Amino acid sequence: MKKIIDLRSDTVTKPSDAMRKAMFEAEVGDDVYKEDPTVNRLEKYTAELLGKEAALFVPSGVMGNQICLNVLTQPGDEVICEKDAHIFQYESGTPAALSGLQLSLVDGGPLGIFTAEQVKPLIRPLSAYYMARTRVIEIENTHNRAGGTINSIENIKSIAALAKKNNLLMHLDGARIWNASVAKGIPPSQYAKYFDSISCCLSKGLGAPVGSIIAGSKDFITEAFRIRKRWGGGMRQIGILGAAGLFALQNNIPRLKEDHEKAKILADRLSKIPGITINKELVQTNIVMFSPVKISAEKFLAKCVKNNLLLGTGKVGVIRAVTHLDVSFEEIEQAAKIMEQIME
Ligand SMILES: Cc1ncc(COP(=O)(O)O)c(C=O)c1O
Repeated sequence: MKKIIDLRSDTVTKPSDAMRKAMFEAEVGDDVYKEDPTVNRLEKYTAELLGKEAALFVPSGVMGNQICLNVLTQPGDEVICEKDAHIFQYESGTPAALSGLQLSLVDGGPLGIFTAEQVKPLIRPLSAYYMARTRVIEIENTHNRAGGTINSIENIKSIAALAKKNNLLMHLDGARIWNASVAKGIPPSQYAKYFDSISCCLSKGLGAPVGSIIAGSKDFITEAFRIRKRWGGGMRQIGILGAAGLFALQNNIPRLKEDHEKAKILADRLSKIPGITINKELVQTNIVMFSPVKISAEKFLAKCVKNNLLLGTGKVGVIRAVTHLDVSFEEIEQAAKIMEQIME
């Protein structure tokens, strides 16, 4: 049987033999009592990597983001984020459903990146008691729906300065902060230092089967621990998952460079196929967004499936291909050939 090339997401990776060995051998304990030595090590390791006082393992990126927002806010507060942010587009309305928050959206254009100048007029004066209280500015780096684009340190710095001046807090959805870090050669802690809370994923490009980590001050994590329990995210002998996360952080960050190369190669090949439009400027990490012009995205996707190639979707009419550690350079070439044939 022909192997399926799965480019739907970097979440589709399976744990490698070495990762499974680390999971098999993991020392475990009851994490609700904070007695799982492996998870304790993972949290300490991640806190250090991000330059924060403390960290907490959570089951998913959504839970990570939403616990952070919940801890930073009161019901009725407002969170400023980009109009295509994951917390707005893809988290099932959780800010409203679980934390009583409203979101104020900024248009970051095709790159999904907004500036301090754009945020300034959205900050509501505290004296306006009849308005929601602006409390948090959220930044997603890299930006998923914009195609894995990277927010620069300079831009983040100026937004953080504006937040400080207005007594606002900063949250980073760093599901793919590792990709930004590797692409720019900037340590994750350099990005993290501008944020009060950070959520980052172990189960995307890093290849772990489950899990995200949130990080911040000790007081922040103490409260996050309470909310994780309240929302049913307290887990017991999860060292077997913690070991996968630790393995991922210790072994799989530098190799993200390869995924970025694969994305560039794919983008380059797609740009030469008549009938496909692609903005190569947006291909900065491991996500490739493009659109077929003569047939609908749905038809294009269905034809790909028939050829054992799985792709995802982004904005309306946009197709998304994500490179990862379970897809080889050869398979990227095959994927490009399949799409070329479909467009002939
Ligand atoms: C930017 C971003 N944030 C958060 C998440 C949520 O992660 P999870 O699927 O683990 O809940 C994702 C998932 O794709 C994401 O791309």
